[in-house]
Amino acid sequence: MAWQDRFFCRDFDSTKIPSMEVIDSIADIIEYIPSQILNNDHYWFLLEHDNADHVKLKEWLVDNVYYHASMFNKETGTNEEEHFAIVLDAPYVLFSGLRRKTDHVEDQDKHMREFNLMKCNAHLSAGAILAKLVDSDLDSSIIGCTNGMSLDPDKDSKKKRVEFRKLMKEIFPTTSGWCLEPSISICIGYGTNHRGKETQGQMIERHGYKWINYKNSHKSPNLLRAEKN
Ligand SMILES: Cc1cc2nc3c(=O)[nH]c(=O)nc-3n(C[C@H](O)[C@H](O)[C@H](O)COP(=O)(O)O)c2cc1C
Repeated sequence: MAWQDRFFCRDFDSTKIPSMEVIDSIADIIEYIPSQILNNDHYWFLLEHDNADHVKLKEWLVDNVYYHASMFNKETGTNEEEHFAIVLDAPYVLFSGLRRKTDHVEDQDKHMREFNLMKCNAHLSAGAILAKLVDSDLDSSIIGCTNGMSLDPDKDSKKKRVEFRKLMKEIFPTTSGWCLEPSISICIGYGTNHRGKETQGQMIERHGYKWINYKNSHKSPNLLRAEKN
């Protein structure tokens, strides 16, 4: 696929499953992506459509993490929660977790610097993975909105963190005792681009959640080059 044809896929066809061979070839590059620091500060977890535990984790993420509360519903004229249940439709998801050294915060500035570096490293990896996905003719989207962690009146972020780590420990026992935070997910599969179609901008309602199938939120051009004579 050409980069010009890449789009942020918000509507995956969950019946179209990429081959394990192509998924392996994508997962295999992760070890070779550079990192600004030596010790691993983030980890990737491959979540597969036919693994019930992985589906359970994806459901937890959509319910508790991957949402915001300001999706404008044209029909009702009100703001609603937009849950990115895109991760439930995508047959494969590369989910990332940021691993802090400790939960204890002594120096808030240092803590934030370290956290930002972790996020940068995870996002750099996501860029490399995205490039491989484009080369592999796969559709993709990156869910970075983790606002849900602090939006629930009945469950604060500390409670969610405990639930998350318990679930991770059950599914990926290696993470036992890790100070892990949920981060971005890369959704992988085949889907529909609603741009320019009659359906553009419509709301998708699936799995008990709502989200928008296309957003007109493309960045403006940001490459500056010297003018040629
Ligand atoms: C790292 C990253 C994370 C993103 N996270 C979200 C997200 O959580 N929710 C969302 O609606 N869009 C998300 N986007 C999509 C962008 O905000 C933007 O809408 C999209 O990339 C523009 O569409 P295009 O990729 O088809 O050009 C994310 C994009 C990137 C690069």
